[in-house]
Amino acid sequence: MSKYIKSFSEDGIGVIQLNRPNVLNALNRDMVHEIVVQLETFDNDEAINVIVLKGNEKAFAAGADIEEMMEATPLSLELLNPFAEWDKISLIKKPILAAVNGFALGGGFELALHCDLIIAGEDAKFGFPEVNLGVLPGAGGTQFLAKAMGVRKALEWIWLGESMSAKIAYDYGVINRVVAKELVEEETMRLATKLTKQPPISLRLIKEAVHAATDLTLQEGKNLERKNFYLAFASEDQKEGMRAFSEKRPASFRGK
Ligand code: CAA
Repeated sequence: MSKYIKSFSEDGIGVIQLNRPNVLNALNRDMVHEIVVQLETFDNDEAINVIVLKGNEKAFAAGADIEEMMEATPLSLELLNPFAEWDKISLIKKPILAAVNGFALGGGFELALHCDLIIAGEDAKFGFPEVNLGVLPGAGGTQFLAKAMGVRKALEWIWLGESMSAKIAYDYGVINRVVAKELVEEETMRLATKLTKQPPISLRLIKEAVHAATDLTLQEGKNLERKNFYLAFASEDQKEGMRAFSEKRPASFRGK
């Protein structure tokens, strides 16, 4: 039984809602653990094709739980190794969509950046205020943002600790879509539903190849893409997709 999240599934979409509204969904360690366990559960569930992560109207998440972190020491952090839990999010194979309204700050922004697509309301606020606490992002923020918007812009935002509007985040290519705040969930579910119709094996092979592009050399990335292209030919969906094209009918994919 989860204490800090709610989850449910409908029509191939697994939804995780962050649920610590009293503290703007501040992420304590148990909450991160619950999120990761639920992501892994959906990833292993054949009935689920796409995962959606959302907060509430006021906040996606306002960061790691500062109260919990306050008394940490270098050794307590080394022994707890809290960010190992976050690394597991990058191992999820299915598409993860973040639906963001309100604050996505610090660890909350990092959680969104661990997702594959980010859909935000026009009032959403993204940022890394850690500098104001005398620290810095710890769950990958410096790396994700530098890779998304370039080193100079990332430095400016993370040094100043200011919040960026959804429009600015969109203009820099950090997020995918900006919609009216009332429409964030609807738009996210619409996109998720579209993805449920796509061949699941292609989606996971594409996810692996595209994310690898941020770390690998061009040739290494092309080699990985090629192997995944070959692997797709082991699927029934490849046969169905190409046969359907040839027979001039819509394909029906089964994820096999
Ligand atoms: N940790 C713990 N509690 C938090 C929190 C956080 N990150 N963010 C908000 N809260 C709590 C507040 O303490 C407050 O609790 P009480 O009602 O018990 O006082 C409640 O949530 C509501 O917050 P505010 O009253 O502050 O709401 P506001 O609308 O006036 O301000 C805010 C909103 C600007 C987001 C402000 O809450 C804020 O600055 N929060 C902290 C943001 C932050 O610094 N995040 C980075 C954390 S460090 C991190 O994330 C490290 C990492 O990389 C992993």
